[in-house]
Amino acid sequence: MNAQDIEQSLVLIKPDALKNSLTGYVLSTLSEFHTGLRFAGAKIVHVSPMLASEHYAEHRGKFFFPSLIDYIQGRLHYAEEPWKRRVIAIVYQGPNAVGKLRALSGPTDPHKARKEQPGCIRSLGTVETIRDRDGKVLGERMDNLIHASADAEAAEREIKLWFRPSDIPPAMHPYPTETSTSHYYYKDGKLCDTFALGRICVLATGDLGWASDLKALAQHLRGDPAGTSLESVVAKYLINEHQEP
Ligand code: CDP
Ligand code: MG
Repeated sequence: MNAQDIEQSLVLIKPDALKNSLTGYVLSTLSEFHTGLRFAGAKIVHVSPMLASEHYAEHRGKFFFPSLIDYIQGRLHYAEEPWKRRVIAIVYQGPNAVGKLRALSGPTDPHKARKEQPGCIRSLGTVETIRDRDGKVLGERMDNLIHASADAEAAEREIKLWFRPSDIPPAMHPYPTETSTSHYYYKDGKLCDTFALGRICVLATGDLGWASDLKALAQHLRGDPAGTSLESVVAKYLINEHQEP
C-alpha cells in the first residue's frame, strides 16, 4: 500500500455506548474485516475537563457545549459512579479511514440517523432535553454513542490531542516525531523547564514527542505566540494521572 493511501481517524466510544453495553457492537462494526482498517492505538480514558473542552473546542460558546462536556466526561451516564466515567479512544489506520468511519457512524442526530441511515451506529443513539438550573428548556443534546474525526485535519489534531507517540507502534506513527532536548513541567496552566513540587513533567530530555508539540512547547516556554494551545499539548500527558474531585 502506498503511504498516501494510509489515512487515520480518531474514534471515541462515548460513555452512553459503555453504559448500554454497546462497546462490542461498535468494535465489531468497525472491525478490520468490515472496514479494512487497523488499530494503531487504543486506550481507556477518564476524560478531564481540559481534554473534553480541547476536544470539542470548535463548539465553545454554543448552547449545548456545557452539556456536551458533561456528557463526554461520563458525568451524565455515570452520575453516581464516577469511577465508571470512561471513553474508549481508538486510532484507526487505513485507506479512506475518515470517510469509512463517518459513514458507519452516521448522521450526528440519532433521529436523522434512524430515518436516513437505519443500521448505522448512531441510529441507536438518543436525543436528550437540555435544561438550565431552573428547569427551563435550552434545547437538545445528541447522545450518539461514537465520535469519528470529521476530516484529515481534524484527525491529526484529535489524535495528537489524545495520544502520545509511544501509544502507537513506531512503524504506524502517523505524524512526524522528534526527540525532546529539554524538560517541560506543567502546573496550573503554566509551563516551566525546572522542577518544583506539584509540577508534572510532561516531556523530559530524550523523550519522543510529536514534532508539532515540541515546537509549541518551545514557543510557550519562551512566551512566544503559538498556534496550538498549551492545554491541547499537555492534556494527553495528564490522561489517567489524577482523579479530579
Ligand atoms: O460528532 P459530529 O462531528 O457528527 O458532530 P458535531 O457537530 O461536531 O458535534 C459534536 C457532538 O456534539 C455531537 O456528536 C453531539 O454529541 C453533540 N451535539 C449536540 O449535542 N447538539 C447539537 N446540536 C450538535 C452537536
Ligand atoms: Mg465534529
